[in-house]
Amino acid sequence: MIVLRPMNGENYAHAAAVEQTCFLDRPWTAEQFREELGIDFSRTFIAYDGDAAVGFVNIWLTPPTATVNNIAVLPGHRRRGIADLLLDCAEEVCAGLEELTLEVRVSNRPAIGLYEKHGFVNVARRRNFYENPREDAFIMTKKLSGVNGND
Ligand SMILES: CC(C)(COP(=O)(O)OP(=O)(O)OC[C@H]1O[C@@H](n2cnc3c(N)ncnc32)[C@H](O)[C@@H]1OP(=O)(O)O)[C@@H](O)C(=O)NCCC(=O)NCCS
Repeated sequence: MIVLRPMNGENYAHAAAVEQTCFLDRPWTAEQFREELGIDFSRTFIAYDGDAAVGFVNIWLTPPTATVNNIAVLPGHRRRGIADLLLDCAEEVCAGLEELTLEVRVSNRPAIGLYEKHGFVNVARRRNFYENPREDAFIMTKKLSGVNGND
């Protein structure tokens, strides 16, 4: 069974290990994850399969919007619904906010499929946003219900 736990001073290196397996372009270090713990608008949740950390999501809450900075699942654990759980969790944490936004490589079909499944729409393309390899980003957003439940 997959369990999501908030990142804390004991387990931040688990998130870094997932990050460094999943991302080749300047992955965040364990120290950077530790620094996130000191940012009051940052939230990170780690997915565990038993004792093994298999995924994480990091978001920044900057009312009235929030940003999904990163989400990743270890290769051997993909297509099991773990990113679905992580993104659901991120959206719950954003309750009361108006919009969730993120950037994604235009070639990243798995991530774009995930975001589309969760109701994100492609609103812009940012040229040469990424390095290694250089690539454009799609900016995707999802309208949330907002403070009063009005769309
Ligand atoms: C993107 C990523 C987080 C998805 O994780 P996952 O746990 O495999 O995703 P899930 O099993 O929860 O799938 C949820 C949905 O995502 C989409 N999806 C996931 N993998 C996909 C793939 N290979 N191709 C197309 N759509 C895919 C589907 O819509 C899927 O829903 P479905 O199973 O009902 O079809 C994972 O592939 C990953 O870690 N990639 C590398 C890191 C990365 O690119 N992160 C995003 C940075 S912007």
